Amino acid sequence: MGKFTLLSGAAAPLMRINIDTEVVIPINRLISNKRGKLGPYCFEAWRYASDGSENPEFVLNKPRFREAKILVTGDNFGCGSSREHAVWSLSDFGFRCIIAPSFGDIFYWNCFQNGVLPIRLPEDAVTELAAEIEASEQALMTVDLQTQSITTPAGRKVAFMTDPERRSALLEGLDDIGMTLKLDAQIRTYRSKDRETRPWIYRREETPRVVRLLILAGDGVGSEILAEVRRVVEWFIAKRQLTVDLREELFGISAWKAYGDLMRQKTWDEIVAADAILFGATGSAEYNKIPAEARNVDQLLRIRKELDLFCNLRPVRTLPELCGSSTLRPEVIEGCDIMLVRELCGGIYFGKPRGRETLADGSERAVNTCMYTTAEIERIARAAFELARARSGRVCSVDKSNVLIETGGLWRDTVQALRDRHYPDISLTHMYVDNCAMQLVRAPKQFDVLLAENLFGDILSDCAAMVAGSLGMLPSASMGPIRPDGSRHALYEPIHGSAPDIAGKGVANPLGAIMSFALCLRFSMGLAQEADHLERSVVAAISHGARTADIAQLGEEGISTKAMGDAVLAELEQIQ
Ligand code: IPM
Ligand code: MG
Repeated sequence: MGKFTLLSGAAAPLMRINIDTEVVIPINRLISNKRGKLGPYCFEAWRYASDGSENPEFVLNKPRFREAKILVTGDNFGCGSSREHAVWSLSDFGFRCIIAPSFGDIFYWNCFQNGVLPIRLPEDAVTELAAEIEASEQALMTVDLQTQSITTPAGRKVAFMTDPERRSALLEGLDDIGMTLKLDAQIRTYRSKDRETRPWIYRREETPRVVRLLILAGDGVGSEILAEVRRVVEWFIAKRQLTVDLREELFGISAWKAYGDLMRQKTWDEIVAADAILFGATGSAEYNKIPAEARNVDQLLRIRKELDLFCNLRPVRTLPELCGSSTLRPEVIEGCDIMLVRELCGGIYFGKPRGRETLADGSERAVNTCMYTTAEIERIARAAFELARARSGRVCSVDKSNVLIETGGLWRDTVQALRDRHYPDISLTHMYVDNCAMQLVRAPKQFDVLLAENLFGDILSDCAAMVAGSLGMLPSASMGPIRPDGSRHALYEPIHGSAPDIAGKGVANPLGAIMSFALCLRFSMGLAQEADHLERSVVAAISHGARTADIAQLGEEGISTKAMGDAVLAELEQIQ
């Protein structure tokens, strides 16, 4: 956009009121004519007769106004449709300044955006100016934006006012974008400060990041089911342009066999560097063959603890097709949808002291300690309340505060206090864990979000599995705290474990692990639609009859792990 400082040229009087943008440039000229080529059509209806010849009476066709740069006109100029083309056609014609008592609002601002100066003058002043122009021979005028004054054809000085910001934009030849870019350095400083304090605001703006995804198949059926998950991940890479850096490491017994080390440094480095881990299972009788000192740290628990994966989500949903696979009556479980929120880094799993010692008489004594702090309870309760807000708003918190009056009491008090302080909209109930186990099989539909500490959550989630029909169906997500850059460690695993009885037979149900990858799409990659697509494909595979042994009807033979993977892949292709 050119700078506007001093304009000298002929002025043309067009003293009509309410000249609307349709008169300035008719709509039928907007379609095939580009900016820069609209001049001939400016005031087309007035400039030309119906046979296409020029109308000699029209002011702009008079020889001394043909080259006019300034238009002096009536009230409410540029009213009507907001088309920016009106300004373009005027400036294509040659006008750089329009003087009127008032303007259509949008037209007025459009002028500044396109390097045309609109000047408002009192009606009398405009009338007087128009008369002076008519009376003068050459109608020459000067408009000085620096001093905000007009020199009329008769040599009079007339002052005018312009919005100071618009004025400096025109003087510098900048439109709104140009004006904004002038503040680039300030905007950058502000944004980098804001990015630090509110990282979550910026997460969605960024182009999809390559997510580092690590597969740890682990023990037992882990390698069989994760092979199917891998095919699903590869489908998303090939068909949905999923941007992942997919890696795989041996974990558990297979790692011991390969490296003589349950957790070699390289594997640990991969774990720490991963954005998300897809985990299979841990647990095997073969651990007994490993020297005790090598196996005294459970590697899955080490990952949970060191990555601080405190927030474990275990969604339990009953699919109508699988009602028959549960030992519970269909009417008890139909339509169940529970979100179990399990604290995963505290409690008796990690509390100290712990140990086993031989007493003087040769017998033994073993100790485990259940321990919780306010902060540990608050952060998991907050997760449960937040989830509840996006669901039905109900949370049932589980404890054993009638007996474990210390940890159980602190748990109950902390959850209640947090609810009262920050989540008054949430309906919170408390239940003892023994009663909860019973209620889960008696009337599971009463629950929405279930909040439990580590050990109780472990037990109750197996219990809740019967609600879904099979343990093999259940996924889980374990997440760490949100880091300043908005990312968080996460591990996704089916909750069923290594199932040594069927390991190696190729019959395990991979759906829990596949559904865990859906959670990964949703939580670690922010791809909710892709997650829905995968979940719907799993449901469709089941609806179309795909059943591994664990979800087959009595007497029916189940399909293989791989065939179940095939069924899901087929649905991924089918479903829209
Ligand atoms: C689970 C499992 C684990 C646990 C085992 C494998 C350590 O049962 O995730 O539910 O007890 O947390
Ligand atoms: Mg368990």
